[in-house]
Amino acid sequence: MKDTKIIKVSLQNPDPRAIAEAAEVLRHGGLVAFPTETVYGLGADAFNADAVKKVFEVKGRPADNPLIVHIAKFEHFAQLARTISSKAKILAEQFWPGPLTLVVKGRGVVPDIVTAGLETIAIRMPNHQAALDLIAEFGRGIVGPSANLSGRPSPTKSEHVHADLHGKIDMILDSGSTTIGIESTVIDVTIDPPMMLRLGGLIEQDIENAIGELHTTSDDLFLKRSPGTRSRHYAPRAKVILVEQGNTVAFGQLTETYQREGKMAGCIVHSRRMKELGSKTRLVEASEDVEEFSRHFFAYLRELDQAGVDVIIVEAVPDEGIGAAVMERLRRAAVTLDPATTKSMAGD
Ligand code: TXA
Ligand code: MG
Repeated sequence: MKDTKIIKVSLQNPDPRAIAEAAEVLRHGGLVAFPTETVYGLGADAFNADAVKKVFEVKGRPADNPLIVHIAKFEHFAQLARTISSKAKILAEQFWPGPLTLVVKGRGVVPDIVTAGLETIAIRMPNHQAALDLIAEFGRGIVGPSANLSGRPSPTKSEHVHADLHGKIDMILDSGSTTIGIESTVIDVTIDPPMMLRLGGLIEQDIENAIGELHTTSDDLFLKRSPGTRSRHYAPRAKVILVEQGNTVAFGQLTETYQREGKMAGCIVHSRRMKELGSKTRLVEASEDVEEFSRHFFAYLRELDQAGVDVIIVEAVPDEGIGAAVMERLRRAAVTLDPATTKSMAGD
């Protein structure tokens, strides 16, 4: 067991001494969890295969699921990418730093373990001062998968990182709750039109406004191109059930059934009608504002898990904008696992 050091850093003005200390840990091949605008990342030197190996180990992440390299300067992009298409350039210039990850052809400068042996590499410049300062101080790219155990909801507070990884990593830079709460949008720009691999913090409409229509995916191709999307992500321990927005009848029936069976249900609801109905259960009254809902969504799942509920009933949010990213994660969390396929679906 390691002694995981937690250092608080301010959102706007991170203390340079804290950043220097964290960069020093990275230089020695250590692991530092750091805040971003989306979720907390688990940082390690992207050029140190042993350090990256530890990232996979502590997360329990399958080796075939590649990592995102986080950068702080546009020069880093050119150092890592073999080709940067004109659309990739537009996206980077318009949305970096921000919740967007670009998959490009790699130069092969990072060890294979980072990219899971693919010819492509995923790159992102996060919009968070502590993350940018840490990468700049360190001087080159750092890997940054979400700092959770594989298969658990992504961490949006340092407490979540601590709960999953304390004793296994060297340091956590803590700047409180992340502002977006959902991971970055992942776009494959090696093809034209580019392809959406993961819905996330940057909404599809903003991307299409910048570069025109995206490739529409067939499921097979989608799964092949983005290894991480095969897995049952974001899953709390409890079973997750999705109920249509405002469907009080279904909601009422479900909660009654579970009550009769002596099971404890936790509910995450946002509409007023549902809030009134859910008072007999362990109720999370989420915001009706979908951005606010997204910001706290992973924290709600963890909160209900911790309360020991058997089932989590979630009221669907409108399937558009950032809501589409939440719904994608919810649908995946709500998957009922077939024991025969559990292994191949165990993911990040
Ligand atoms: O917001 C985020 O992106 C956070 C913060 C910490 O930056 N990071 C994050 O990393 O969500 P992770 O490892 O949890 O998710 C990375 C996703 C996975 O679905 C992975 O399969 C995909 O990016 N990915 C990475 N490299 C890829 C590549 N070369 N081709 C296709 N997909 C790739
Ligand atoms: Mg993740």
